[in-house]
Order: sequence, then structure tokens, then C-alpha cells
Amino acid sequence: MKFFIDTANLNEIREAYDLGILDGVTTNPSLMAKEGIKGKDNVFSHYKAICDIVGIDGDVSAEVIATDFQGMVREGEELAEIDSKIVVKIPMIKDGIKAIKYFTDKGIKTNCTLVFSAGQAILAAKAGATYVSPFIGRIDDMGADGMDLIEQLVIIYNNYEFETEILAASVRHVTHLIQCAELGAHVVTCPLNVITGLLKHPLTDLGLEKFLADAKKM
Ligand code: E4P
Repeated sequence: MKFFIDTANLNEIREAYDLGILDGVTTNPSLMAKEGIKGKDNVFSHYKAICDIVGIDGDVSAEVIATDFQGMVREGEELAEIDSKIVVKIPMIKDGIKAIKYFTDKGIKTNCTLVFSAGQAILAAKAGATYVSPFIGRIDDMGADGMDLIEQLVIIYNNYEFETEILAASVRHVTHLIQCAELGAHVVTCPLNVITGLLKHPLTDLGLEKFLADAKKM
């Protein structure tokens, strides 16, 4: 199971990477805006800074803003030139599917984002997306269960041995992450606090406290 961090904050990316368990980073326009990154040059140099933090095999998803085929191709090609770790993130729309197919044929990695149904995920896989990003937290927000979609996608992708990896996105808490692991999602992307949340157990804290107290008696 791969762990991606869902942020554009360089300190958080460094902290997760220093743990030694980070496989990549996902960003989106909202996360970039949150860091105050403005203007094409700054946006591109920020993506480069992220690429420089992640390991040699790390993936960094950078999202196109255009919503037409030509625009997505132009932007995606520019993004892909920043660094070999860049994965072009493309929205699940008609022209997005065409753009994913275009990049697949050129050997450029893609992440199909804003996926909320099995039908959309089938299209992304047929177009050859490297990753498909079902947004489980946002499905939960609507009163449904995002995990049902992950379960469906694991079955469907296994049925046809699609190579597209299921990248569970909009992961909001530790339980989401563990359920994704149980169901067999290939990747989860989540904020730093979800990753560090995996460390926590009160019995670990109590046990360590006791060991350290007893160590003084040794
Ligand atoms: C994924 O690629 C998205 O950036 C992200 O997971 C969206 O999460 P949110 O629903 O918490 O904004």
C-alpha cells in the first residue's frame, strides 16, 4: 500500500518524508492556494520544490486548470517537464478522458481526479490512467458511504486486471485509511495528521512510561 500526503505544505511533506514511509504527494488548486502560491512561475517552482523533497520513486500529482482537451494537453505537457516525478492530475470530464488517453499514449503518468462513481472509474481505467482518485470523504459528506465505492472499484479492477491504481482520496481520518487497507486500495492520500494518527495507542504510551520508569531501576 502506498502512502501519499495530500498537501502543498513543504514542511509537512518533509516531516512525512523523514518518517521514511512516504511514496508521494497529491496537490490540488485549493491546497496550492492555501499555501499562498500565486502566478505560474511560483506554482511551477513550488511543484519543483515538492519533487526535490520526495524520494527518487516518489510521485507528485500536479493538477491542470484547463477544462478543454487542448488546454489540458498544453498544461499537462508543461507540468510534466518540471520533473520526471510529476503525475498530471486531470479532472473526470469528457475532455479529461481524452487527455488521459493522450498522456497514456505518450508514457506520461496521470491521476484522474474528482471521481465519485464506478462508471467514472471504469472510464479512467479504459483511458489508461495511472491512478484513479475516488473522493471518499466527500461522498461521506453527502450522507453516503465512500468506502462502498472503494469496495466496488477493487472488484471491478480485479475482474479485468486493469493496471490503474486505486488512489483513495479525501481520506479524513485513521479509520478511512485502515478500511482502505482492508479493501485493498493501492494508495491512500491524506493529511499529515492522519498518517501520524496511525502511531497513536494509549497502551503504547502507558507501556513505554512503565518501561522507562523500570529502566531507572535497572
Ligand atoms: C485528492 O487528490 C484531493 O486533493 C483531496 O484528497 C481532496 O480532499 P478533501 O475532500 O479533503 O478536500
